[in-house]
Amino acid sequence: MDAKTHSPANSAQLKVGDKSWNLPVHHGTIGPDVVDLSKFYGDTGMFTYDPGFTSTASCDSKITYIDGDEGILLYRGFPIEQLAEHGDFLETCYLLIYGELPTAAQRADFMHRVTHHTMVHEQMSRFFQGFRRDAHPMAVMVGSVGALSAFYHDSIDIADPQQRLIASIRMIAKMPTLAAMAYKYSIGQPFVYPKNDLDYAANFLRMCFAVPTEDYKANAVLARAMDRIFILHADHEQNASTSTVRLAGSSGANPFACIAAGIACLWGPAHGGANEAALKMLAEIGHVDRIPEFIRRAKDPKDSFRLMGFGHRVYKNYDPRAKIMQKTCHEVLAETGHKDDPLLGVAMELERIALQDDYFVEKKLYPNIDFYSGITLKAMSFPTTMFTVLFALARTVGWIAQWKEMIEDPSQKIGRPRQLYSGATKRDYVPISRRK
Ligand code: SDX
Repeated sequence: MDAKTHSPANSAQLKVGDKSWNLPVHHGTIGPDVVDLSKFYGDTGMFTYDPGFTSTASCDSKITYIDGDEGILLYRGFPIEQLAEHGDFLETCYLLIYGELPTAAQRADFMHRVTHHTMVHEQMSRFFQGFRRDAHPMAVMVGSVGALSAFYHDSIDIADPQQRLIASIRMIAKMPTLAAMAYKYSIGQPFVYPKNDLDYAANFLRMCFAVPTEDYKANAVLARAMDRIFILHADHEQNASTSTVRLAGSSGANPFACIAAGIACLWGPAHGGANEAALKMLAEIGHVDRIPEFIRRAKDPKDSFRLMGFGHRVYKNYDPRAKIMQKTCHEVLAETGHKDDPLLGVAMELERIALQDDYFVEKKLYPNIDFYSGITLKAMSFPTTMFTVLFALARTVGWIAQWKEMIEDPSQKIGRPRQLYSGATKRDYVPISRRK
């Protein structure tokens, strides 16, 4: 049994000076055990210290499991590779929220409910008019998703299971519509309404790329690729943005406001903004001949440059999503006539060199999901600024499932970390006349 995962012990002992305490150890179904520190401060008068939460389990969850050493990702126990191969995004949404794959009847009912909530309140169109046309679409998404709580008062009482369900369905249904509106607004084209006879991904592509002057039919290969990209991004355990949604939700904030907080966090280049940053980095490298210069910079501790799309807090092996993303990338580039895209050449050569370089091998820095997603989305005609919006669209179901799990946990309480204080000790006020 790997010492890092399960141990036979049901308690751990902590000694501080001449005192010692026995701390309960809890065992999950798979993955590392946890030492229960919930009573630690009350028993010892000390806090634990774990900036960045590198060794902290914030909750007990049944939704997603990651094994970073083995490169494993399971949604409710199902491997991401199988869901991406055999399933579709709406089925994955049902699985993440309800915990089981839907029967045919459950799937049809869920699809009907989501489909019939894809329109947004017509006044949202006027809400968009307040943004500058050159606003970053992520800024528009933070604002417009947060504003949903100003439109849907009948689904913000989180104590009511029915309101929680309708808010969840509304979020999953309306994110593609809002994302497409953010894109259309940025390019000065009219908004395109959803169509109920299209599946989720095809509906989204049509809302993004159709124009009133001609008919539009989504390319089936690209729609399948879009759906698979949504599956890959749907959930990922307690990452930064999911933890943000859980913390916001722990105060009882309404789900729309919590999802808006998650979008804001995801925007960061160290997190969901990495796909946009990775494509910009590949474009800056420009040619395979310049790769050594950037590898050197990435390894230089004095240089803040990092290879965007490489490394991960949890995956110390290849990100299983990156492999599927790479395969999807090749399919999309072939379908769109970009199979000789020079950026793909730079990306593949950069990956080859990095995976052989001692620095990256020692630090276990492998390509993550963001490394190939940018090239793929660019080939699908999305502007770079829309990449993280697509990540947020897909991750909304994960945020919703994790938020729902937290709200329905009877032991749930407001999240309120403490600190190690290293500031000034108590001192008296100094009148301005005596300040130097
Ligand atoms: C996502 O958490 C999730 O699950 C996130 C996500 C999800 O689905 O929600 O998977 C989505 O956010 C993927 C990650 C996307 N971010 C990037 O691609 C940005 C580039 N990557 C790095 O910023 C970094 O790897 C992080 C932020 C992803 C992880 O950072 P950690 O775990 O805090 O690790 P670290 O920054 O401490 O790095 C460890 C070492 C450091 O060297 P030392 O200080 O130990 O000497 O590795 C180095 C870093 O300098 N390092 C890199 C590097 N990433 C880490 N060096 C060069 N290039 C990199 N990309």
